[in-house]
Amino acid sequence: MDRYLVFGHPVRHSKSPFIHTLFARQTQQELEYGLAEPAIDEFAHALQVFFAQGGKGCNVTVPFKEQAFTLVDRLSPRAKRAGAVNTIKLTDDGVLLGDNTDGAGLVADLKSHGVTLADSRILLLGAGGAARGALAPLLAELPSELVIANRTHTKAQQLAAEFHDLGPVTAQAYEQLAGPFDLVINSTSASLQGELPPLASALIHTDIAIYDMMYGASDTAFISWAKQHGARQTMDGLGMLVEQAAEAFTVWRGIRPGTKQVLRELKRNLGVI
Ligand code: ATR
Repeated sequence: MDRYLVFGHPVRHSKSPFIHTLFARQTQQELEYGLAEPAIDEFAHALQVFFAQGGKGCNVTVPFKEQAFTLVDRLSPRAKRAGAVNTIKLTDDGVLLGDNTDGAGLVADLKSHGVTLADSRILLLGAGGAARGALAPLLAELPSELVIANRTHTKAQQLAAEFHDLGPVTAQAYEQLAGPFDLVINSTSASLQGELPPLASALIHTDIAIYDMMYGASDTAFISWAKQHGARQTMDGLGMLVEQAAEAFTVWRGIRPGTKQVLRELKRNLGVI
């Protein structure tokens, strides 16, 4: 049976095996999907062993995405832009192809929630790996403006300069942000510590769409905060997780699974519904 897995550390709580097992069942593909948690300095070796032993493809998550970028034989254009790899496929001619499906997953999830990206003003919070992966797919949707704000402002400036050729992207310090924005995407890891990015509450209005790439069984700190200040449309990163997985599954198997039912089952599994 064709073997796939996700490399991460820690990875025990990953939902990827659950999601891909449902995709495989739905599309009648015979495959198994597992977990691998190599020590931080043993990822390269573990990756090599997995493919030497017949593995067909893998996902890569925190903290190995940047390392995976350096280990594959070939990069897709979107992985090259993201500077990180979250999906690897062993091609029929033995080439390890590195791809990045995170940004496509974000855009697909935003669209499935009915969010309009064309001609919109988007505020992206954070300038780390998650923000970098999102930038090219977001700019491809032709927003009128995409502003990056980051705690360390110089990192936002660097990122804006790097992606400037793809669209109207600028960096603004948190305290200088001028609304109104149509969509705020939180790509920071602040919610992990129950913290909030230092965003002025005056930027939240009833018609704004709020997206947090993080997710949990209950609202993230950022989503709770945005709701308290009047945001009516809030979305967490669970849909993005399922959509990036669907994109990876399509890369591996050449067949696109449906995501709606799988997302519902995942929510049930997490106790969200
Ligand atoms: P990831 O790969 O998830 O993007 P990362 O590369 O470590 O992770 O980036 C984390 C991002 O969250 C950074 O933009 C970080 O800001 P700094 O560049 O200033 O470190 C941001 N971040 C983390 N905790 C934060 C907090 N409490 N408030 C605001 N931003 C925070």
